[in-house]
Amino acid sequence: MLVEAVGHTYRRGDGPVLNDVSFQVHPGEVLALIGRSGCGKSTLLHVLAGLARSTNGRVEIDGALVQGPSLRSVMMFQAPSLYPWMTVAQNAALGLRFSRRHAEIAARVPEVLRLVELEAYAGRNVQDLSGGQQQRVALARSLAPKPDLLLLDEPFSALDAFTRRSLQRDVRAIGAELGLTIVLVTHDIAEAVQMADRALFMTAHPGRIAADSEINLGDARDGASPEFRAEVARLNALYAEIAEVEAPSDPIHPIPLATKLKEASS
Ligand SMILES: Nc1ncnc2c1ncn2[C@@H]1O[C@H](COP(=O)(O)OP(=O)(O)OP(=O)(O)O)[C@@H](O)[C@H]1O
Ligand SMILES: [Mg+2]
Repeated sequence: MLVEAVGHTYRRGDGPVLNDVSFQVHPGEVLALIGRSGCGKSTLLHVLAGLARSTNGRVEIDGALVQGPSLRSVMMFQAPSLYPWMTVAQNAALGLRFSRRHAEIAARVPEVLRLVELEAYAGRNVQDLSGGQQQRVALARSLAPKPDLLLLDEPFSALDAFTRRSLQRDVRAIGAELGLTIVLVTHDIAEAVQMADRALFMTAHPGRIAADSEINLGDARDGASPEFRAEVARLNALYAEIAEVEAPSDPIHPIPLATKLKEASS
């Protein structure tokens, strides 16, 4: 995927939300987009998904210009948005049903339910499932049409830490198994380190890429290992550096005390 000089201004907004955003994502890569609330992460994800047209620049996937929504990319949100009156299997089949691929449902739905470890729940009503299980159903629904690109907008942020961790691991493993390219929006550095091969840090007003860093861990990511912790610490420090540069115009994230003291004494 090639993102080239993307800029975006909402018609009813005040000024540009994205400015000159450029980066590349390799096939099969997991990219984390990190940035504070309002910096334009969801806007960028909508542009990548073809759900919004950017006012400037272009997005290409495999050499083809993204001009609208495509079955090759699918987006997952914080809320699973399932149909409560349907079973797990029926919900998982929705993407295929909406794209009129009825013939694939019988074989594909059991496959994706196995991937998300819900095969035993196929006939259950989704209302009887936990939040984490519901998010797994949403994941199965996303995977059923065999997309190449999975766009995740903080999909685990409403879950408890334990459930979140297991989904983070599973999504990374499933993505690797299926050869998916994944772009994950998150506020959580540990989540980025758990899931991604690379992190892009965004700053706000207007949203742009401030740093791009590889996450140098293999596939065995143990949150308790020294390597993992070192990577979290390194990215936290990088983020703090960016946030400090950005801080003076930001009323929600006040200037760090150390900076104020330095200014006061000079
Ligand atoms: N439809 C819209 N019309 C006008 N302005 C909008 C619209 N959608 C978003 N914005 C503005 O664009 C900016 C970026 O919003 P966006 O939702 O992309 O941020 P975000 O990084 O995803 O934030 P969060 O982490 O809170 O989800 C915000 O200032 C927001 O108020
Ligand atoms: Mg958002």
